[in-house]
Amino acid sequence: MRRIAILTSGGDAPGMNGAIRAVVRKSLYYGYEVYGIERGYEGLIQGNFRKMDSASVAGIIQRGGTVLKTARSKDYRTTEGFNKALRNLKEYGIFCVVVIGGDGSMAGARKLTEAGINTVVIPGTIDNDMAGTDYTIGFDTALNTALEAVNKIRDTVESHSRVAIIEVMGRSAGHIALMTGLACGAEKILLPEEKVDLDSVCRKLSETYKRGKRYSIIVVAEGAASGYDVAKAIKEKTEFDASVTVLGYIQRGGSPSAKDNIMASRMGSAAVDAIAENHMNCLVGANMGEIVLLDYETAVHVVRGVNKKLHQLAGILSL
Ligand code: F6P
Repeated sequence: MRRIAILTSGGDAPGMNGAIRAVVRKSLYYGYEVYGIERGYEGLIQGNFRKMDSASVAGIIQRGGTVLKTARSKDYRTTEGFNKALRNLKEYGIFCVVVIGGDGSMAGARKLTEAGINTVVIPGTIDNDMAGTDYTIGFDTALNTALEAVNKIRDTVESHSRVAIIEVMGRSAGHIALMTGLACGAEKILLPEEKVDLDSVCRKLSETYKRGKRYSIIVVAEGAASGYDVAKAIKEKTEFDASVTVLGYIQRGGSPSAKDNIMASRMGSAAVDAIAENHMNCLVGANMGEIVLLDYETAVHVVRGVNKKLHQLAGILSL
């Protein structure tokens, strides 16, 4: 009897529960035993394993967050912590660990693979910034949450003739900012991948003011600039008053969108198929809408930057 373990790691993302459900139920379909590990790699070290059955994943697909909880484990980076994790996996007789998370979580899975433990990674992060996959579970929900927030803020800044600066998540990747900006028709989108020139932002706003535009939307990724610094420059250098909204964890919570739960179900199922076919130690990725398996080495070398053409398009359409 094969024993599968599953954990979620790093930042939670809407749709992680759908992926957990798919992994558990597809494993049971193959006749495998499944253990949920609570609090990611931290729980792996602490031995927080619990046996899961069909009922343990009932009624979770519509919930945000992760029922297995998550953590960013410092101990896992230490030899002592890592060896403890290995001992626990051996004690439970785990054949393969399914990890749901982002780049850091994948690095953690690779470490296990290098130590002789089978792993499969399902991409789960709202940032959509993982090498080797076009899509990460949680991005669509986060994007729609951000868009809904911007559209509400727009009503107020339009009424008050102000500039709205909306700071979204993305420390090193601007996918949420870019797609939110394109979807809401933002006048400016500031991305961590590109140099931020606040003088040029102010010049553009002053031009729009002269043309009679009395409010504007600026979407800024947290890794590009602080929304407050952008507001300060605008107040000092343009005719506009500016207000800042930092969306923060609002983007990470909430019920998953249809797309996220569909991707979670497909990717979760594909992860267990990969185990059944003995094709492990890989990332379950999306490529042009199809589910693909990429070994870790290949996955980390497939660079996934922001789509610069879409950034240009957003600029042209917001003139
Ligand atoms: O989940 C991804 C992400 O939200 C990033 O956009 C952000 O920089 C980071 O996680 C912050 O997470 P935390 O507050 O949990 O450290």
